[in-house]
Amino acid sequence: MDFELKTLSRPRTAAERCDVLIVLVPSGVKTQPDTLSSLIGQALKARHFEAEPGKLLHAYQLSGLRATKLILAGVGAGTPRHIRTAVTAAMASIKTSSAQKVIVSLSWLTSEGADAAPMVQAAVMACAETLYTYRLTKSKPGPTGPQQLLLGVLAQAPLRRSFETALATAQGLELAREWGNRPPNHATPTLLARAAQELAKFKQMRVEVLGPREVARLGMGSFMAVARGSHEPLRFIVLRYSGAARTQAPTVLVGKGITFDTGGISIEPAPEMDEMKFDMCGAASVLGTFRALAQLQPAINVVGLIPTCENMPDGKALKPGDVVRSMSGQTIEVLNTDAEGRLILCDALTYAERFKPRAVVDIATLTGACVIALGAVRSGLFASDDQLAQALLKAGEEALDPCWRMPLDDDYAEGLKTHFADVANVAGRAAGSVTAAKFLQRFATRYPWAHLDIAGTAWKGGAAKGATGRPVALLVQYLLAQAEARDGRAPNRRRSN
Ligand code: BES
Ligand code: MN
Ligand code: ZN
Repeated sequence: MDFELKTLSRPRTAAERCDVLIVLVPSGVKTQPDTLSSLIGQALKARHFEAEPGKLLHAYQLSGLRATKLILAGVGAGTPRHIRTAVTAAMASIKTSSAQKVIVSLSWLTSEGADAAPMVQAAVMACAETLYTYRLTKSKPGPTGPQQLLLGVLAQAPLRRSFETALATAQGLELAREWGNRPPNHATPTLLARAAQELAKFKQMRVEVLGPREVARLGMGSFMAVARGSHEPLRFIVLRYSGAARTQAPTVLVGKGITFDTGGISIEPAPEMDEMKFDMCGAASVLGTFRALAQLQPAINVVGLIPTCENMPDGKALKPGDVVRSMSGQTIEVLNTDAEGRLILCDALTYAERFKPRAVVDIATLTGACVIALGAVRSGLFASDDQLAQALLKAGEEALDPCWRMPLDDDYAEGLKTHFADVANVAGRAAGSVTAAKFLQRFATRYPWAHLDIAGTAWKGGAAKGATGRPVALLVQYLLAQAEARDGRAPNRRRSN
């Protein structure tokens, strides 16, 4: 898909040739003498159109317009959220049409200059998100949708950087969705590692993939125990983006990469078990974030760690009651083999110590309890460090990819005590997302740490079944803010020294 940003005054917008022109109309829009403005004014006056978010008016072959089709899309107060709603509705209505060239115009919005940056970001993200279609395993994938997009604004120069950031984020998000969606036999640990290796072709990126032998040598007994029940060999993926001096401590992202979670011997019930192909969405979000970094080249260092394997029942599989030894030296009594995410993450968290990170953020579809607590709206955020928590919360709000902070009181760890090991891998049913985080926290003592439980936000079930790409937007926003804080002269960009 080809996506451009262009200065288009209101009169110029009417003169631009395209298949579909989508004009975002805020409530109380100031009408001017130009063709489109007076047309909008009439439609509003006749009450054939309302400027409320999500409301659309379609028109065909109007005189004075070079566009074949016009869509007015209400954006209400014009907040980024409203713009997302409007663009999503308008794009969805033409997604399967024959339209090739589509213009989305922001030239009727009241915010101008750099103030319009959040609106540009919301519009670009909504376009890309609506136009994505899963195709890999369909024999007749259907039409591709519009291939040429143009975002019209009153002045493009001050918005250029936000536009490019949004495009890169959208591309990363799409990669995360694509890998999240791929069926488990098309997204094995080996294939996921290959997808990571693809990223090594970009500047400042290095990728290393460890297999069973290397992981055994590192002493990752907990991770290995989960992989034991599967014929697919495990992989431990290490991604490195080096956009800053080597002396600058990196941020480490750790993604849960269970490519299929049957629950193991503590097997899950059959209904909806297919959705456990999405249990690698944390890993996919790390890949997506690195895709965006590769494009944006910010002045920071980032390490991505992905422990990836299947969780299967088998004669050799891990059993309830088994005690395993983690890389940290702590022994773990596995009371439930379905609590496997924390068993693979704990060894990755120990591995993260070697990078002397400024912060470690793990991302995992970790608990059904988090879905009960927060639903599909906000991801669960757990953090041992207030500053890190604040930065992630802020990034989530700005990126329209919000999270909500959950507690980590030590009292929540009581249920993890056992007579047979240093720690058990599950506590009772109460506060399940918190006890899972308390388990992880034992392995993240040497650096500021945060954990995002994306069990409710990483994918949608039902008729709209599919990966969402969350929290790629949050992570990219957070990392770029780090880069900006360190490099006032050239936000979002590498220094040219
Ligand atoms: N991948 C699941 C968590 C999950 C469940 C995510 C449903 C999204 C929807 C995880 O591996 C798991 O099975 N967790 C258990 C933990 C329990 C055994 C303590 C859970 O949440 O039930
Ligand atoms: Mn599980
Ligand atoms: Zn799982």
